[in-house]
Amino acid sequence: MKLLYISLTIAAIASSTLTSAYAGPRNSIIAGFASEAGKPLSAKRGKDFFMGKHSGGKPGINSCTSCHTTNLRGMGKTRVGKPIDPMAVSANSARFTDPAKVAKWFRRNCKTVLGRECTALEKGDILTYLATQ
Ligand code: HEC
Repeated sequence: MKLLYISLTIAAIASSTLTSAYAGPRNSIIAGFASEAGKPLSAKRGKDFFMGKHSGGKPGINSCTSCHTTNLRGMGKTRVGKPIDPMAVSANSARFTDPAKVAKWFRRNCKTVLGRECTALEKGDILTYLATQ
């Protein structure tokens, strides 16, 4: 019993150390959007935005799921068939940890899907949602 407890504890520490190396940078990116937005973020709003249909973007691309699919733990695909790694943090712990990468792809993808950049509130909501998936 004691041995089981010790090995479970070691496993828990090992996994929290592995994920925490990424959790810090991701949390600070999310916190930056929250402070820019000036209000609390919502995973529910992020889910509705990410899974929902939009207009104003490129013809035939009306959702984030057009490329990332609705299966966030699975692979996505660009319009030309190039694979995209899973968006769910539980399936891809390095997600949303590089501020420059996050900024670049939000800019590009929001323009593609909505014909405009996403607001800080939208970006914060989306990352709050994806971080829990
Ligand atoms: C036309 C295809 C396409 C669409 C539509 C799309 N994305 Fe992406 N997205 C990509 C590609 C390609 C990457 C870069 C490859 C990667 O990160 O695996 C990416 C990366 C990202 C990243 C950066 C991930 C990171 O680890 O930093 C974010 C954030 C993102 N997308 C959000 C969105 C949101 C929000 C929408 C909807 C408004 C969206 N994407 C729609 C193709 C797309």
